[in-house]
Amino acid sequence: TKFWLVIPAAGVGARMAADRPKQYLQIAGRCILEHTLHCFLDHPGLLGAVVCVAVDDPFWPQLPLARDPRIRRAPGGRERADSVLAGLESLLAGGADRDDWVLVHDAARPNLTPEDLDRLLDSLTDDPVGGLLAVPVRDTLKRIGRDGRVLETVDRSVIWQAYTPQMFRLGALREALAQALEEGVAVTDEASAMEWAGQSPRLIEGRADNLKVTRPEDLHYLQSIWPQDR
Ligand code: CTP
Ligand code: MG
Repeated sequence: TKFWLVIPAAGVGARMAADRPKQYLQIAGRCILEHTLHCFLDHPGLLGAVVCVAVDDPFWPQLPLARDPRIRRAPGGRERADSVLAGLESLLAGGADRDDWVLVHDAARPNLTPEDLDRLLDSLTDDPVGGLLAVPVRDTLKRIGRDGRVLETVDRSVIWQAYTPQMFRLGALREALAQALEEGVAVTDEASAMEWAGQSPRLIEGRADNLKVTRPEDLHYLQSIWPQDR
C-alpha cells in the first residue's frame, strides 16, 4: 500500500517540562523525532513525508533528516489539528492526489514497530473510510461524580485508546479537519474529525508500547527498553 505521511511536531511539550520540545529529547543517541521518522523511511510504500514544525523551531534544521529529499517541512499551528491540516495542505499543493492514503503519526511516538505499521496498512487498504491503531483499555474504569466518589464501574470491553498512525484518504481528511476546525469542534485526533463528518473509522489493535511520550516517566521507560542497535 502506497501512502503519504504527516508528522505533527510543533508542540512545546508542556507536560514534559524539559529544556526543549520533547520530540528533540534523546533516546539511545538519536532524538525522538528521528526515531519516529525512521519507522517510516524504511517502508517501501512511503510516497513522501511532511513534518509540521513551529516556524521558529531552531532544532529541526540541525537534524540530518531535514535535508532528506523525501521529507518536506510545513508550518505548525496553534493546536495539533491545525498542524496536521497544514501538513495535508502542503501535500495537496505538492501534487498528492485526494484519493491517496495519508498516515498521520505523532512525532512523540517513536516506538512504532514495522509489524504494527504493516498490519494497519494491510487491514485498511481496501477500507472505504480508513482507521487507526488502538489499544483496549487494561484497567477497570470508574465513572465519578463531582465529589470524586464512584457512580459506577464502566464496561471496559467497548473502550479503546486511540493511538497513531491514523490512516485516511487525503482529501476526505482535509475536508473533515478543515470543517471541524471552522465549526470550533474539539478534534484531538484525525478520527474524531472523520466521526464528526459522519464516518466510522475502523480500529486495528496495536501494541501498547507504541506510546506517546507525554511525561518524563514515559521517556525513562522507552530509554530503559530501547535496543542498543536501533
Ligand atoms: N503538536 C503539533 N502542533 C501543536 C500541538 C501538538 O504538531 N500545536 C504535536 C506534538 O508535537 C506531538 C503531537 O502533536 O508530536 C501530540 O501532541 P502532545 O503529546 O500534546 O504534544 P505537546 O503539545 O508538545 O505536549 P503538551 O500538550 O504536554 O504541551
Ligand atoms: Mg499538546
